[in-house]
Order: sequence, then structure tokens, then C-alpha cells
Amino acid sequence: MKNKETLYRELLTEVGGLVDGESDEIANMANIAAAIYAKFGFHWVGFYRVVGEELVLGPFQGPVACTRIAFGRGVCGTAWKEGRTLIVPDVDKFPGHIACSALSRSEIVIPIAREGAVVAELDIDSAELDTFDAVDERYLTDLVTSLGSAGKS
Ligand code: SME
Repeated sequence: MKNKETLYRELLTEVGGLVDGESDEIANMANIAAAIYAKFGFHWVGFYRVVGEELVLGPFQGPVACTRIAFGRGVCGTAWKEGRTLIVPDVDKFPGHIACSALSRSEIVIPIAREGAVVAELDIDSAELDTFDAVDERYLTDLVTSLGSAGKS
């Protein structure tokens, strides 16, 4: 079986081909979520966008999810508030975790910033404990960095 870094490098090439030259952020989020989901088979892969005072569900793959999340609430709201990536090895031990799906066991949330402000997040849930580490953080951050670039519509 291929190791995680090999899979991520393949994913970066695939995603680059899908989003390069495309300025529509929703379309790019949709293809990035689908590409990650297809590559790794995670339980849930998707985006939340900052709309006013809340995170609002964006393109995703997997079971239905919470539509709106308040600033500071759950893993997603906390990553937004703190402006940093959160890796949660066991969601049952994260105070205030929002259980959109009972099958979720671990999670990574990566904020996407534009001009210093968080504008969206990539959220991935795994059905296994302790799925995500610094390797996931590095490659997933690379994958979504272009979404924060100026000039996206
Ligand atoms: N578990 C997240 C909510 C979003 S879903 O998992 C898709 C949280 O605590 O922020």
C-alpha cells in the first residue's frame, strides 16, 4: 500500500490540474473535497465558509452535516476563533465538539485566510481515532492555500 505522503503528492497534482486557472471558489472547493474524499475515503470532507458571524456549510462529500456553526463553537468554530489548524485525535475528548455524525472519531480543521482574516475552513472527519498528524496538516494546507489567494470570486 502507498504511504500517506505519496498519496498526498498525487493529490496535489490532481487538484492542481482541477483548480489552476479556475477562479470560482465554490467550484474549486467542490473538486478539492471530492478529490480528498476519493483518495483517502475519509468519513467526511468539506468546507465551511465564514458568512457574517457564522460558519456556513459549503461543498462537501459524506453524510449530511450541520449547516451553521457559531464563532468559537465546536472544533470548527474554535479553529476560526484561534485562527489556527486544530488536530483532534479523539473528538469525544474535545470540549464542545459538535457531533454531526456519531461515526466521527478524529478530526482536522484547517482555516483558510485571506488578507489576515479567516474566510473558510477545510474540515475532515475520520471514523478512526488519531488519524491526522503534521503530515496531513502540511499537505492539506498546501492543497487549500490557493483558495485564500487574492482575486478569487
Ligand atoms: N465536528 C465539527 C462540526 C462539523 S462536522 O463534523 C462536519 C465541530 O465540532 O466543529
